Amino acid sequence: MKTVHTINALQEELNALRLQGKRVGLVPTMGALHAGHASLVKRSVAENDVTVVSDFVNPTQFNDLNDLAKYPRTLEADCRLLEACGVNFVFAPSVEEIYPEPDTRQFSFAPLDTVMEGIYRPGHFNGVCQIVSKLFDIVKPDKAYFGEKDFQQLAIIREMVRQMHFPLEIVGCPIVREADGLALSSRNARLSAEQRQQALKISQTLFESRDFAKSHSVSETRQMVEEAINQAPGLRLEYFELVDGNTLQSIESWDDTTYAVGCITVYCGEVRLIDNIKYV
Ligand code: PAF
Repeated sequence: MKTVHTINALQEELNALRLQGKRVGLVPTMGALHAGHASLVKRSVAENDVTVVSDFVNPTQFNDLNDLAKYPRTLEADCRLLEACGVNFVFAPSVEEIYPEPDTRQFSFAPLDTVMEGIYRPGHFNGVCQIVSKLFDIVKPDKAYFGEKDFQQLAIIREMVRQMHFPLEIVGCPIVREADGLALSSRNARLSAEQRQQALKISQTLFESRDFAKSHSVSETRQMVEEAINQAPGLRLEYFELVDGNTLQSIESWDDTTYAVGCITVYCGEVRLIDNIKYV
């Protein structure tokens, strides 16, 4: 495994491999890797000749500078995990390498990016599209891997690829959970032991809501989740939306869609956690 820090160095390596007919998989990450990332990486290693993992905390997608400052940076540990997964290249550029000048491009994939995270994190998806489109241009992967935990991000990236004709396949990978149900997230590292226990209520409530939904309406299910989280110690609900999994628009009745998804964002102390569940 090689760790490269510049676009030129990475492209030199990849051009040579592509001339040999090798197929390239890309796993974009912001580092602080955990078993959820490892599942994407292992899938890429299994499906491609060469796997590139980018490890870059992208400043343009943070609308909260405090969140950016506190984002864990663990390149050495990340490299150990990636080497064990069989990765070929870790791309760990500096901010100046990626943004030698400010990126003024504006992406809009309405209505996908005007709901949920789009409301609560203004500019976030613009920053995600800036970095992901740059990574696609730099790496020119055959396939790129993203987790379903960031459900809205995945839908927006699929739409960006469709509208901008990037010649690659997007592979969405299922959420990886701890044994007790908590969705894996780099942010979990910031939870105290007590908060870690409190946060468990998020996935528990989502699982309960899946059973509850079988005999209750959309609005009753929404209310049940909202009440459970609002009553839970240490948690503050930002939103819970029941949406069509393709359009991300709210549903009013289970008959509105065959692909209902519940998307939730909850603060546990200062830590913002997201999760989702499919009602199928
Ligand atoms: O999901 C993430 O970790 C980030 O949003 C991504 C896709 C790596 C872009 O910085």
